[in-house]
Amino acid sequence: MRKLKIVPDAEKELPPLPRPATLAHRHLISLHDLTPPEIDFLLKLALRVKASPARYRHALEGKALVMLFEKPSLRTRVTFEVGISQLGGRAFYLGPQEVGLGKREAVKDVARNLSRWVDAVMARVFSHQTVIELAEHASIPVINGLSDFEHPCQALGDYLTLLEHKGMLAGATLAWVGDGNNVAHSLMYGAARLGVRMRIATPPGYEPDRSALAEAKREGGDVELTRDPAQAVAGADAVYTDVWTSMGQEDEAETRKQVFRPYQVNAQLMRAAGPQALFMHCLPAHRGEEVTNDVIDSPRSIVYDQAENRLHIQKAILLALLS
Ligand code: CP
Ligand code: NVA
Repeated sequence: MRKLKIVPDAEKELPPLPRPATLAHRHLISLHDLTPPEIDFLLKLALRVKASPARYRHALEGKALVMLFEKPSLRTRVTFEVGISQLGGRAFYLGPQEVGLGKREAVKDVARNLSRWVDAVMARVFSHQTVIELAEHASIPVINGLSDFEHPCQALGDYLTLLEHKGMLAGATLAWVGDGNNVAHSLMYGAARLGVRMRIATPPGYEPDRSALAEAKREGGDVELTRDPAQAVAGADAVYTDVWTSMGQEDEAETRKQVFRPYQVNAQLMRAAGPQALFMHCLPAHRGEEVTNDVIDSPRSIVYDQAENRLHIQKAILLALLS
């Protein structure tokens, strides 16, 4: 397996990496909003930041990020907080009890207040509309840290991870098995931009959003839907799954456990994929449901590389949007 790595010494010799002007001081709500050169820049910058973190340690000195959470988090909270502090800035966590987005205070007032005090907002929300509304009324960049429709920072970190492990993205095949959810949508938009083929296996009624699928296809995305997990994974470079019940869908958990049972990623499905296939998951995982322990703990699993890369890609995002 080829591993792409920029070593710190070689990094000094690398040519400058000019930021596309369109990335400065803008929002990151959907992966669909980013052009291929913008995504390419973020991936390259993340590799450089990962190789030489010390070079960037004063880049965002004096900048402040508010992290607004309507839902729980481990990775998103820690990687944004650690990420901005490694760049010289500071993060402030605001949990669901504090702000009451749209309840204690109108979303637009929250956006307008925060715009007077800090340099950016990262928001994890139930409804995608909330993050759109925040962005509409904020004069500072708003970053989507997960909504019910998308998880763009996750997908960018995942493509960084796949790039490192496979050496290139164009022409790679990513198989998605399970729920056509927020993570699947962002991966699908990213796949269309990056020339990654996507094979998606879901039970009936759990396909990705129809208009998101049409949009990805319109933009040249090679996306194929199937009901058959074995067909989706055959020959894939990576097999990706996520929880069957996303945050906010807890009432449906029992039904979903039944519906998704044939979509478990286990040793048999990984055999059907072939020896080249890596295993991916955004985490948190429900071990024994969507993935078995032997798969997630196997050498083919790159889930902790994905988790680590959330840090590096988000540092690149913060640098691109705020510096
Ligand atoms: N993958 C991810 O976003 O994890 P958290 O929910 O823990 O932030
Ligand atoms: N689809 C999951 C992703 C968690 C990072 C959820 O929305 O809960």
